[in-house]
Amino acid sequence: MSLRTSSASLLCFWPRRRYRPHISGRRALISAFIAVVGAFLLFYLFAVPQLKKFRFRSELSWYDLGLYGFGPSQSYISFDEESPIVEISPAGAQCDPRYTFLAPRGDSVAHPGPMILDASGELVWTKYSWGTVQDFRVQTYKGQDYLTFWQGDEEDGHGRGSWYMLDSTYTTKHIISAAGAMNGDLHDFHITVNDTALVTIYHSIPADLTTVGGPELGWLYEGVFQEIDIATGELLFEWRSTQFFPPDSSYEPLNDRGYERTLGYDYFHMNSVDKDDQGRYLVSGRHTHSVTCIDGSTGEVLWTLGGKDNEFFDPSDGAATEFEWQHDARWHGPSQITLFNNAANGDYDLQKVSYGALIELDIPTRQATLLTSYDHPQELMATSQGNLQVLDTGNVLVGWGHSAAYTEFSPEGEVLCDVHFGASVYFSFGRIVSYRVYKGTWVGTPDALPDAAVAGDSVFVSWNGATEVVSWRLETWDGVGLENMAFTTVDQVGRTGFETEIPLPPEITHFFRVCAIDAEGNILGKTEILSRNDSSPRGEMLTGHWGVVVIAVFASVCLVCGLYCAVNRHLRSIRTEANGPYRLVSYKDEGETEAEHDHLPI
Ligand SMILES: *[C@@H]1O[C@H](CO)[C@@H](O)[C@H](O)[C@H]1NC(C)=O
Ligand SMILES: *[C@@H]1O[C@H](CO)[C@@H](O)[C@H](O)[C@H]1NC(C)=O
Repeated sequence: MSLRTSSASLLCFWPRRRYRPHISGRRALISAFIAVVGAFLLFYLFAVPQLKKFRFRSELSWYDLGLYGFGPSQSYISFDEESPIVEISPAGAQCDPRYTFLAPRGDSVAHPGPMILDASGELVWTKYSWGTVQDFRVQTYKGQDYLTFWQGDEEDGHGRGSWYMLDSTYTTKHIISAAGAMNGDLHDFHITVNDTALVTIYHSIPADLTTVGGPELGWLYEGVFQEIDIATGELLFEWRSTQFFPPDSSYEPLNDRGYERTLGYDYFHMNSVDKDDQGRYLVSGRHTHSVTCIDGSTGEVLWTLGGKDNEFFDPSDGAATEFEWQHDARWHGPSQITLFNNAANGDYDLQKVSYGALIELDIPTRQATLLTSYDHPQELMATSQGNLQVLDTGNVLVGWGHSAAYTEFSPEGEVLCDVHFGASVYFSFGRIVSYRVYKGTWVGTPDALPDAAVAGDSVFVSWNGATEVVSWRLETWDGVGLENMAFTTVDQVGRTGFETEIPLPPEITHFFRVCAIDAEGNILGKTEILSRNDSSPRGEMLTGHWGVVVIAVFASVCLVCGLYCAVNRHLRSIRTEANGPYRLVSYKDEGETEAEHDHLPI
């Protein structure tokens, strides 16, 4: 009792105002009016823009409402990094059983980097990356699968870095750089059937920007793509947007850009490049709202769909030609393309809804028709990023970029499986994003040893990136000698997700190890030799959440103390009118002794 009141008294050291029972009615009214106006202005300036970003819908789950956080994540005992906890809907969803490739990043992601999840959202592989990793996926080069991604520094919506290729042991086998004195951009790294790489580059060049209200001697980011021979690094083809598209073909406002080389006007914003088997390139310019087909030998523009240079008539009433801020334009056979129509660009117009699109082109007659749109059940608004992958099953995977979700559709556009890796109410805040999301097969056999940690009476094992482990075998040292230590099997348990807990039976008294076993019973790898006394307390798993709990408790204590002080002072003031206006002393409760007061921590 005394501690509580004493600390509350301590908090009440601020100056007291004399209690004024009668303020004149007019002054009270004016004060109230000013207060209301102030509150309204503050609300309008600060709260409204934030509130507009929330997208509440009636059918949201607790997960989507953020009960578990902006981006719920899971930590492990044997492994240092975290992985998202996903929510898959509808119940009993028929997701493609293969792996998902994504690269989560954002303020709510503790360990950004490339990541493989299985169909149920369990972690398979991740690598914490100091630089930014984008466009992570599995691609085939010379008949072998590689994990590919861009890594480098991101600035101003584009990147300066290189493209990486990792083999099945997660070893870097190729690093591809842009040809010439240019930096590789993050938006696309696409390996063709001819084992060449199609890559994007943002190149700042001097340009006359008067047509868009800029300086005559200004700076422009031209969109460049290159086709590079991966084996030799030889440049096979290069195309530059400025040879065909002038600055005023853009929808991007100039704002304060174009005055400095490193802050060029990003008028084109090339974000994908593809090539079909007739050798025609397909390029997406986000800021020109257009997709352009380019002759593979001359570099001439064959046609442009969308934007100010659109050549196509659209019987589907603009649905095939009026896409905006789009991403990931891909060939889908000789006369069809797919793309991700963002529709929105950093604005919060609730009418804007993003979707994946399959578009049929009649090139000779210049007619474009929307065949199918792939719509998210919650009408997501992806203000940036995003992609669309047609799977070999015919199903379509859409990654919602700025919105932490990926959705699998039937070819007709019916939702089969919707996965969220963040709470959808807060998607507009972009706290968890993945530029693209892909599905594919992958066999990973890491060079590193399996990870293990003893906690309590269990050992926890995991093996980052090992796809072939089906069970874990616990082996104990036979106790005979430390020279050539021999081990005998104690137990074998099935692998359960990324990390498996194996209880340690009493016969394990000292050294033991755990072996990773594949479907044929082969040993794929062994942990280091472990000891039962390595045990660490199991509380570690909770560290992430303790911070929140401490802050919440602290905030509650402050609130209670504040209220206590306010009420207490108020009552006191009523009772003791005789006090002077300012008294920097604490109040003592009746009955509180001097001795108690002395013990207060100061
Ligand atoms: C692959 O090479 C062949 C032969 O040179 C060519 O006809 C074809 O267009 C190329 N395909 C791609 C996608 O580059
Ligand atoms: C583990 O440590 C305890 C003391 O901390 C010791 O008594 C015990 O013998 C050790 N066990 C083994 C197997 O080394």
